[in-house]
Amino acid sequence: MQAQELLMALAGGATVSGASLAERAGVTRAAIWKQVEALRARGVPVESRGTAGYQLPWPVQLLDAAAIQAALPPVLRRSLGTLELHWELDSTSSEIQRRLGDLPDLSMVMAETQSAGRGRRGRQWLSPPGLNIYLSCLKRFEAGFAALSGLSLAVGVMVMRALDALGIAGAGLKWPNDVLSEAGKLAGILVELGGEYQGPCAAVIGVGINVRLTPALQAQAGQPADDLAALAGGTPPDRNRVAAALVGALGEGLVQFEREGFAAFLDEYARHDLLRGQALRVLGAQGTQDGVGAGIDARGALLLQTGDGLRRIDSADVTVRRA
Ligand code: BTN
Repeated sequence: MQAQELLMALAGGATVSGASLAERAGVTRAAIWKQVEALRARGVPVESRGTAGYQLPWPVQLLDAAAIQAALPPVLRRSLGTLELHWELDSTSSEIQRRLGDLPDLSMVMAETQSAGRGRRGRQWLSPPGLNIYLSCLKRFEAGFAALSGLSLAVGVMVMRALDALGIAGAGLKWPNDVLSEAGKLAGILVELGGEYQGPCAAVIGVGINVRLTPALQAQAGQPADDLAALAGGTPPDRNRVAAALVGALGEGLVQFEREGFAAFLDEYARHDLLRGQALRVLGAQGTQDGVGAGIDARGALLLQTGDGLRRIDSADVTVRRA
């Protein structure tokens, strides 16, 4: 029995005995125990119930490509490239990068788990199976890099649209595109661009959404993290619904971005902007600057009101200064 089959057997949330798991898979109980340990090592909180067996603290919905497809409006479904679901990849974004020449535009690649999930600034993105969403999307653009300013911020707006469609409130955007609640990070976005400066180029857009984190995963995240379960009052939306909402928001939003540019996303970004009016410390190429968040400009740069006037920040680490 592989870790994937074990997770499937436990997904319903009931206690399942080691003996019945072993019998079902035609392996020894020791082999089952090994896979329980493998799932635990990946962050899945498999609990031991003594002789009764093993149990998850809550039911888990495993991702199902057909269910995700079925939840999409037919027009949108037709406009997408491939929609792939893998049990495990190193990284969904790396998978798209490897197959850049072959995949059709608006292809979506998802994985139940990533062995080397990538975050921004070279950080790792924890990717246990069965708990969260890991999805990357390929979008080609004909017009070159100049037309892509604001893309990563627009993707933040698309993720907010997905959360809105799921009825999740209590999240906002921290420039450039972190999706946060009051308690911490809910979703991360990694946009990687390749191609020609003035000609055809491609964006690989990776999104990770925390649907359900365990306290251990929260401790490992290296920064405050939150999940949809907390915002939804304890029980998160079905993971296939979350995946479909994200696929839908990206599929529609990226076409809108291609047609209308970042201008079409500015007002929505402003509505979700968590930094506007906040005392900020900005650490960038110019060193450290303190000021007050004053929104973003039409290219997606952060506007910082300082004692010396308004500054435009293209790239920096921003923290909110607490009084
Ligand atoms: C961040 O650091 O905020 C960005 C995190 C992006 C994580 C997602 S998960 C799907 C895709 N595959 C990866 O390896 N990274 C992105």
